[in-house]
Amino acid sequence: MVDQQSFSRPLLDWFAGHARDLPWRRTYDPYQVWISEVMLQQTQMDRVVGYFQRWTAGFPDVRALAAAPEDKVMAAWEGLGYYTRARNLLRAARHVVENLSGILPRDHADWLALPGVGPYTAAAVCAIAHNQPHAVVDANVGRVLARVFDLDTPVRQRPTARFIAEQALTLTPPGQARNFSQALMELGALICLPRRPRCSFCPLHDVCEARRLDIVLERPVPSKAVTTIPIDVATGVLMAQGLIYIQKRLGTGVWAGLWEFPGGTIEGAETPEQTLIREYMEETGFAVNELRKLAVIRHGYTKYRVALHCYHCRLNDDQPKPPPILTAAQEYRWVRPEELNQYAFPAGHRKLIDQTFS
Ligand code: ADE
Repeated sequence: MVDQQSFSRPLLDWFAGHARDLPWRRTYDPYQVWISEVMLQQTQMDRVVGYFQRWTAGFPDVRALAAAPEDKVMAAWEGLGYYTRARNLLRAARHVVENLSGILPRDHADWLALPGVGPYTAAAVCAIAHNQPHAVVDANVGRVLARVFDLDTPVRQRPTARFIAEQALTLTPPGQARNFSQALMELGALICLPRRPRCSFCPLHDVCEARRLDIVLERPVPSKAVTTIPIDVATGVLMAQGLIYIQKRLGTGVWAGLWEFPGGTIEGAETPEQTLIREYMEETGFAVNELRKLAVIRHGYTKYRVALHCYHCRLNDDQPKPPPILTAAQEYRWVRPEELNQYAFPAGHRKLIDQTFS
């Protein structure tokens, strides 16, 4: 088994020369580390940097975030997906201001008590912001260690996951948690790539068991494939007197608090047009007609493949901005097309807006 020094020395030397210059690596401010780690959980580094810079310009610290209106927070998150993360950041910030005098926790257990903070985020913030020894294991780290130790079971399987976490901690040199945890993630992101690993540049070349056996591409062993479920949804952009109807989803479910055009799942033998007419009536009480097809937008979402059938539509009696009877929304507005950018929409609706109004 590889010892701590022969693992961590070359890794830390490599990190000192190759670490990317990321905005939150300048000060290691705990607020910034927290935001960056939550953003990085489902999103590629390249995309996160721009979001992070806009976010910290708009909400520079936990008090500024806690004081921000939810719509503004959701709009700053729009495009990153998994909106529960943004709602939880706001809830956690408000909790910190109301109950912890506006000071973010230092201890792992106290981080875990905040909304939306799981073991990964708590470990990452404590290790990276406070240099405390914790096992910070993301998919990149799992892959690196599955190769170094030649693990022949999927990295998320219980005993394997525990072994990886133990090694990540055991291999951390005293006082080096900040650099070590990031170096492992960075190595997975830049060198120990899933399909085209760059082994000849790897600082762990000499200690990597999968490399020695020439089976790097066979590690990590894949988990069971997840099957994707296709669903068909219809949605309609309703225009009256040059204004567009939008509504804000109710406070439950994945897209709670996001704005949208009405619509819903195509049921049984319905055509998309029939679905749209039915959903408009159910959700708003509006009778719509003059349906004109705009696009079919395909979008992957967790385990679903969504085909979003998009229409332009009008009211049967083209009266000016009638009030809806809301059953699936908490709020509605009639807005000009150029105002749509001020609201946060789910990704499929945003693609529709970009295609139709720009
Ligand atoms: N992935 C998630 N957090 C990271 C970090 N701090 N450095 C490199 N990759 C990461």
